[in-house]
Amino acid sequence: MADIAVIGAGYVGLTTGTCLAHLGHNVTIADIDEIKVQKLNEGEVTIFEPGLSGLLTQGIENGNLKFVVGATSASRNAAFHFLCLPTPPNPDGSTNMEYFSSAIEEIKDILPPNSVIVNKSTLPVGTASQLKKQIQRTDVEIVSNPEFLSEGNAVQDFLQPSRIVIGAESQKAASSVAALFKDIDTTTQITGTESSELIKHTANAFLAMKLTFINEIATLCELVGANVLDVAEGIGYDPRIGSTYLRPGPGWGGSCFPKDSSSLLQTANKAGFDFELLEKAITLNQKHLQRTAQKVVNALPQGKEPENSKIAALGLTFKAGTDDLRSSPSLTVIEHLFNLNGRVSAYDPMVNLPIENMSKLEITSTAYEAANNADALVILTEWQEFADLNFERIREAMRHPIVVDARNLLNPQDLELLGFQYIGLGQ
Ligand code: UGA
Repeated sequence: MADIAVIGAGYVGLTTGTCLAHLGHNVTIADIDEIKVQKLNEGEVTIFEPGLSGLLTQGIENGNLKFVVGATSASRNAAFHFLCLPTPPNPDGSTNMEYFSSAIEEIKDILPPNSVIVNKSTLPVGTASQLKKQIQRTDVEIVSNPEFLSEGNAVQDFLQPSRIVIGAESQKAASSVAALFKDIDTTTQITGTESSELIKHTANAFLAMKLTFINEIATLCELVGANVLDVAEGIGYDPRIGSTYLRPGPGWGGSCFPKDSSSLLQTANKAGFDFELLEKAITLNQKHLQRTAQKVVNALPQGKEPENSKIAALGLTFKAGTDDLRSSPSLTVIEHLFNLNGRVSAYDPMVNLPIENMSKLEITSTAYEAANNADALVILTEWQEFADLNFERIREAMRHPIVVDARNLLNPQDLELLGFQYIGLGQ
């Protein structure tokens, strides 16, 4: 079993470190946030991720997992150093490498001989070779091993992945990293570092493009009287297309798709390639988010101006199953509603505090409270809790029983029977 340092205790670092400990490795996770480290050592998980808490407690109890402050303390005695650091976007969409550069500066001289640095975060093509130059250590290898963890399902994605991709310049380094995952039953693909880095960006950009496509088809369905759910089902039976990532929504978002597709676009630009298809997928997504807001305003009762209406929004995180608000489509739609002079009260099972820079947004502690006196209600994320609401109670609370279902979560017939005007997406 290997001695592993994981630098960064965010979504990726915590899941990676905890799961590596679960596989039997001796893992030390480092973060700069002292309070976070203290909480984690006491077994308190700082994010919402199903299944993580149990594995983390197990890891601490069996001695495989511990948390320390600072990369140096974790890396000093480790053979593998997983970098799980933030990669925020620069204003031009390219990836900000600040966190990576400073972590490398911090650990490069204390790394034990023949260490392997493993880049887990999503990084632009060429990062591994750049870091190799920065580190100036011939004995240290830099390997790219991108994560394919979807929030809310991250533990399962780690332990039962669709594939493991390892990009390395030497077979020895690739095999040593592959050996860490030997108990995981999946295909392992070994490539050069550039291809591995590009695989990750391409996967996210492709899925984002697929979503833009189905959202565009949803709009077309509304115009021609088709139902996008039937269309998605019909094309999904074709294994060349596949049935996943075909659920239309208010627009795609989250901490990865927007950032990664913009970063890939920048990579293409820098390489002198005008990646028009990807650029269009990004701008069409922005249009779709705007269109979702407009749809809510259009649904308001006749003669009701947005400024004299109240809109109830259900769902604030970027999708169900997470507490993550980063680049949330729900927040973008709500911002558009504000720009259209709407007044919004929102409920989300994971959010109970005011949201930064959204002082106009009223956050309620139940869906019924958000619906109180509302002229329209919009479903923005697909929490099962919203499908299970007592819609008779919702109807009684609302001033006008109008529902815009931007996730196609509810059953239109059921709502119509209860006296609602139901407006789905692409139906
Ligand atoms: C995504 C990828 O799915 C992971 O494979 C990847 O590892 C991760 O980014 C990352 O780069 O770290 P995640 O950001 O957790 O994972 O979110 P997804 O579940 O993929 O959803 C992204 C967006 O697409 C959300 O806004 C979601 O609501 C939307 N979506 C997804 C749809 O609108 N319809 C769908 O059918 C699927």
